Amino acid sequence: MPTSEKIAEGVWWTGVNVYTSDLFEGIWPIPNGVTINSYVVKGNKVALIDLVKAGGGGSSENIIDQVKSIGIAVNHIDYLILNHLEPDHTGYTAAMRELNPKIQILTSEKGVPLVKAFYGISDGVRAVKDGEELELGNGKVLQFFYAPNVHWPETMVTYEKSTKVLFPCDAFGSFGAFKGYIFDDQVPPEDEAFWASETLRYYANIVATFSQSVLNAIKKLGGLDIKVIAPSHGLIWRKNPGKVIADYVRYANYMSDFQEPEITVIWGSMYGNTGTILRAVLRGIAQESVEVTIHKVPETDASFVLADAWRSAGLVIAMPTYEYSIFPPVAYILDLMKLKHFWHKKVLRVGSFGWVGGAQKHFIEKIDKMFWDCIGPLEYQGAPKPEDLKKAEELGQELARQVKAIKSKKT
Ligand code: FEO
Repeated sequence: MPTSEKIAEGVWWTGVNVYTSDLFEGIWPIPNGVTINSYVVKGNKVALIDLVKAGGGGSSENIIDQVKSIGIAVNHIDYLILNHLEPDHTGYTAAMRELNPKIQILTSEKGVPLVKAFYGISDGVRAVKDGEELELGNGKVLQFFYAPNVHWPETMVTYEKSTKVLFPCDAFGSFGAFKGYIFDDQVPPEDEAFWASETLRYYANIVATFSQSVLNAIKKLGGLDIKVIAPSHGLIWRKNPGKVIADYVRYANYMSDFQEPEITVIWGSMYGNTGTILRAVLRGIAQESVEVTIHKVPETDASFVLADAWRSAGLVIAMPTYEYSIFPPVAYILDLMKLKHFWHKKVLRVGSFGWVGGAQKHFIEKIDKMFWDCIGPLEYQGAPKPEDLKKAEELGQELARQVKAIKSKKT
């Protein structure tokens, strides 16, 4: 990777590729890495937009070299713009202040107390107003727009008026480290699926809960002439920023009943009896030729399960009763789905029990207020009997028929 890269006149990417076995947010695996993008805007004065986390994958070590590589000494940066206070973008704030005691920190009104709470810094911190402009000189003007809850309440975005570059922090972001290029127009055909899946996974893991806020922000910024979208994770969109905006609108609308006519199967099994019934369900789905993605838990991490489930109009939840309740790995997935507003799904639940059931009672409690349209359940003691297998196949086909009636939103 270059040590930094120019993205417009007087604007540079100064971010870092992070490869780490640490989990993102302490929850989500990032086997393909992630980028944490910072940007420098240089007029007569210099602004650094968003920062990096402290340590981990080399992020904090590299930022200083990145800034130096464009000929700017760290103590010549005038402003540190913090669009969002989550520590992946701010963890290096206290160190930066030590290196450059005069640097002014600008953030939203709700950001100011978080700078104090996370880093104990209150001097030289100023709240900018929604819509406020900051003249850097030599034609460079930053404008700030509040974008609450994309991803936290204090979030704002920054827009450079002369180059028409939008710095939206988490919005329009993705998992995945750069592979020797940073722009959308440099993505080779063989990497397109990689970025599509890592963008959707990032959305389902990090942003999904805030889908209405995403739509609100996109509407609010609709009047801006945006030439480049420079998010704080993932690709920089200079050829076709409209694509990532359209993708994010589609992802956000998956929170309502605008999902894809596909089925995600989430299943767990202790001794194979739920696996046996699942094969019958899949035979039923296959009769309607509906696309299916299958995830077994806990073998597959929740991060990947959520990505496919977010997109899919249909779900099969196949799991046994475990100690009078839900098989715990599936319970964890259901809890995440509830937290993250996986609403308006068509759902079939099947599974076995030993002595008595219990999973279905807890399942119904858990999915309360998720607006799921459920068929089944199909529960059976021990191993499934021929009549159970026949019923499972019928229910699989019925779910697939319902899902098939939905029109795809992909373009
Ligand atoms: Fe990438 Fe919400 O921080």
